[in-house]
Amino acid sequence: RGPEPFTPTGQPDGVSQEALAQGGAYLTTAQGTRLPDSDHSLKAGPRGPVLLRDQHLREKITHFDHERIPERVVHARGAAAHGIFRSYGTAGKVTKAAFLAEGAETPVFVRFSTVLGSRGSADTVRDTRGFATKFYTSEGIFDLVGNNIPVFFIQDAIKFPDIIHAGKPHPDREIPQAQSAHDTFWDFVSLHTEATHHTLWNMSDRGIPRSFRTMEGFGVHTFRLVDAAGATTLVKFHWKPKAGVHSLVWEEAQLINGVDPDFHRRDLADAIEAGAFPQWELGIQVFPDTPEQLFEGIDLLDPTKIVPEELAPVQPIGLLTLNANPSNFFAETEQVAFHVGNLVPGIDVTDDPLLAGRLFSYLDTQITRLGGPNFTQLPINRPHAVVNDMLRDGMHQTAVHSGAAPYKPNSLDGGCPFFADGQERGYVEVPVEVASAPRVREAPATFADHFTQPRLFWLSLTPVEREHVIAAYTFELGKVYEQAIKERTLQVLAEIDPVLCEQVAAGLGLPAPKAAQPLPSVQPSPALSQVGKEWPTA
Ligand code: HEM
Repeated sequence: RGPEPFTPTGQPDGVSQEALAQGGAYLTTAQGTRLPDSDHSLKAGPRGPVLLRDQHLREKITHFDHERIPERVVHARGAAAHGIFRSYGTAGKVTKAAFLAEGAETPVFVRFSTVLGSRGSADTVRDTRGFATKFYTSEGIFDLVGNNIPVFFIQDAIKFPDIIHAGKPHPDREIPQAQSAHDTFWDFVSLHTEATHHTLWNMSDRGIPRSFRTMEGFGVHTFRLVDAAGATTLVKFHWKPKAGVHSLVWEEAQLINGVDPDFHRRDLADAIEAGAFPQWELGIQVFPDTPEQLFEGIDLLDPTKIVPEELAPVQPIGLLTLNANPSNFFAETEQVAFHVGNLVPGIDVTDDPLLAGRLFSYLDTQITRLGGPNFTQLPINRPHAVVNDMLRDGMHQTAVHSGAAPYKPNSLDGGCPFFADGQERGYVEVPVEVASAPRVREAPATFADHFTQPRLFWLSLTPVEREHVIAAYTFELGKVYEQAIKERTLQVLAEIDPVLCEQVAAGLGLPAPKAAQPLPSVQPSPALSQVGKEWPTA
């Protein structure tokens, strides 16, 4: 049996965080040997040559040579903050999750991001923004990995590499580095009309938020909540900023990118440092968990669809306050690892085919990005609940695991900890019926309508918001080289609204096509257009 000086989370007992974080009055090597000088290499005389013998020089330069880790394949550029989530208890009716019980307070870490730009790209580009929250609950980590736009480009995760390849810079010229105006992106979204809704949100003011502090957040997918009696409910998660939703106008965004490309991260850090703590209410839209998983005809498993808030109001369940900046960007903002599969009892997933791929993708990519499978031991990723897993060894293992037998039950150092008294404990997946159906590679018929909701969104915008959308399409398509891509995109716009299509066509100097199918008849949705308005709190 090994020694037992470590806690189950791998934090050595008796070694203070300060010691690990490098305190002390004098400089040392990584091995703790005191150094008298870190400015001069060891040489044969003042004019050299430099001696290979210089262990300090070699250690310092070798470490520097390995400072970079891969940036995230998407959402590479981000800024984050610590905070607290206080539950109102209102979700207690539909979930047994302890952190959603009345009065529960849970530490959180929130990372905001752009999607397509590299780690050093500018902040105020037109793009979707990530809004990822890690709740360090008493029952383990819950990650709500959302965006500031309530829908996604694709309905099936198998197309995620394709849309990202189309959105990332062209492989030959590496253009554009941060923005969406290029041929492959427009080629993809005009050929895949399921992307129309998300693209329209991107072209609206939502694509250029004024501040992270004034963005909404959305879990996008439908999740399944479970109460103490095992009853289930379907929900969509929403973050509503207490400061209201505010955007930049395009000219502002462009100027700011030149003058201060760090505008959003500076704004977040400055606000927190000044004590103007940003706040969001977390809310849920609640739907009955029926076998069809439809609500008012909307397929709840289709991530390109919203459910209008008039049909299912967002019910507030708690308050998030960001009140502390990270003390080290790399240790916290860069090394944090979110995963839609990090769930706690009371919260489960649905069969949304986009979510299914995400459940695989995050851990997989983090094994590369963070150098092996033990990144859960990094301080920012460590649960604030006791960990007692049977995962062993691997790259960058920092725990000295105790015990001889990492399997259960065993007769050497412990029996089976599960259900010893017959009680159900811990995370139990909802025993959802799996349909008896043939294996197919196809989407359900309820995923087929790609234009009704974009039209709903367009009609809910105010005149000035519509002008911004027209200007955005005109600007972005104006940067596209291939005429056929512009024409195909105009055809997509014709399926949304004739005015939108005609105005963009006029801006591009091209003829406006007619809709190929009758335009859907929809009622404008006032709740969709909340720009600049306070969210009414309960
Ligand atoms: C990263 C949101 C779809 C793969 C992220 C991040 C967010 C996010 C917020 C950044 C997390 C951070 O701050 O570290 C979403 C949303 C989606 C979606 C809301 C759709 C509703 C997908 C899909 C896949 C995917 C379909 C793959 C099949 C990834 C990967 C990362 C990432 C690989 C980088 C993770 C890392 O390196 O730590 N996503 N995403 N995402 N996402 Fe997604």
